[in-house]
Amino acid sequence: MPYRRVDRKEESQIIMTDISKKTESGSEKLWGGRFAEGTAASVELFTASIQYDSRLYKYDIAGSKAHAAMLADNGIISKDELTAIVAGLSEISAEIEAGTFEFKQELEDIHMNIEKALVDRIGPAGAKLHSARSRNDQIALDFKMYLREQCTFIIELLDDINRAFVRLARKYLGNVMPGYTHLQRAQPVQIAHHMLAYFEMFARDKSRMIDCRKRMNLSPLGCAALAGTGLPIDREQVADALGFDGVTANSMDTSGDRDFAIEFTSNCSMIQLHLSRLSEELVLWSSQEFSFVDISDKFCTGSSIMPQKKNPDIPELIRGKSGRVVGSLMTLMTLMKGLPLTYNRDLQEDKEPVFDAVDTVSSSLSIMAELLDNLTFRTERMENATKTGFITATDLADYLVLKDVPFREAHGIVGRAVAYCLDKGCELEDLDLEELSTFSATIGKDVFEVLSVEGSVNSRISTGGTGIERVKEAVSVAEQQLGID
Ligand code: ARG
Repeated sequence: MPYRRVDRKEESQIIMTDISKKTESGSEKLWGGRFAEGTAASVELFTASIQYDSRLYKYDIAGSKAHAAMLADNGIISKDELTAIVAGLSEISAEIEAGTFEFKQELEDIHMNIEKALVDRIGPAGAKLHSARSRNDQIALDFKMYLREQCTFIIELLDDINRAFVRLARKYLGNVMPGYTHLQRAQPVQIAHHMLAYFEMFARDKSRMIDCRKRMNLSPLGCAALAGTGLPIDREQVADALGFDGVTANSMDTSGDRDFAIEFTSNCSMIQLHLSRLSEELVLWSSQEFSFVDISDKFCTGSSIMPQKKNPDIPELIRGKSGRVVGSLMTLMTLMKGLPLTYNRDLQEDKEPVFDAVDTVSSSLSIMAELLDNLTFRTERMENATKTGFITATDLADYLVLKDVPFREAHGIVGRAVAYCLDKGCELEDLDLEELSTFSATIGKDVFEVLSVEGSVNSRISTGGTGIERVKEAVSVAEQQLGID
């Protein structure tokens, strides 16, 4: 299977130390100088973020290495100190990856856990790393580096799901189904056209993610706490080393800015909404009432009490999970709403909702793409559904327009014909020419071409319409965009 399988990540295996004894007696803090008493255990428990921000360790370490290299190049630390810092950080990184690193809750967050471990290992050189840096610009850096990578990952998943839509569109080219407005049969369309509607939505999501990644890709490092630094640093050098397009312009804005996280989560919400609409259709279509699709057994579940049941739990869960993602967006916006410049500790609350949005959207996209490859359309049943419900009524009106009948008048004529059919218990197509011409003398025998479903679909050749030629072109354009030959 070509799919990037996304499993919901376990929260990192943090080895929580028993803080109850240690901390009331005053564990050593990196910021402890001005404090006479040790932090209360309850405060350490309440303020810690390491249980979730350990996810950012890779970026924290990469940022620290680039920062240290810049400090050395500008004479703030020596070359030997740089070598010791880089070696120490690499060691810590390897231990975290191997699961042997001991994260400590009393060290609050990922920054302090890594920095303290470094100082413990290499001594004074480690204590120089934080020169010209604050945790405020450090967390902004880590978070941006994490999120730009997630943008790229989600873009790949969006391409995957769009490949699945294009495969379905190709497979069912020429097959028709009812198109709906108000969930009432409206006009016949091609199944492929319906699939490509989703392609468009996810293509827009992709372009939003590209924009968002571009906008966020400016390095915050060097803004320090809020006002910049008096030390002779080179922000551009660090930005360059870490793959940023440049540096942020205002240190005060940078220290408290989370627009990039909100924009990202808003994009995630849009993706999840699109997935949710699709899910809703799959739930409807797989019901006995519609019976338009068959979702393979592998992607359904049964009932514990009703032996006959085959339930569409995957789309239902995806639909349900929209609440989580939109909820995360609401959390972030509410979090930011009343914050004065610059950094406030409230901002620590930004990570969990974003991580949850990332996990939810990526696992939903990935499983939905797999499900689409395990989906069969019941083409006969779908086509039969286009045979009732006066689905070609608009075509009859358009036919009259082409015979120079004003559209409003044509609308009335067809409406009366429909009422007549309802009375008689038949479809427009079942009327003979004599009956049809009682509604308008302009109706001739060529009318039967437009009353057929095939005629109706194929007449819709306007750009973006469901006519076969238009849809074939659209499939090719989509394939081109996805690099499919
Ligand atoms: N853990 C903090 C966060 O996620 C890091 C920055 C803390 N800065 C501070 N001055 N307390 O926001």
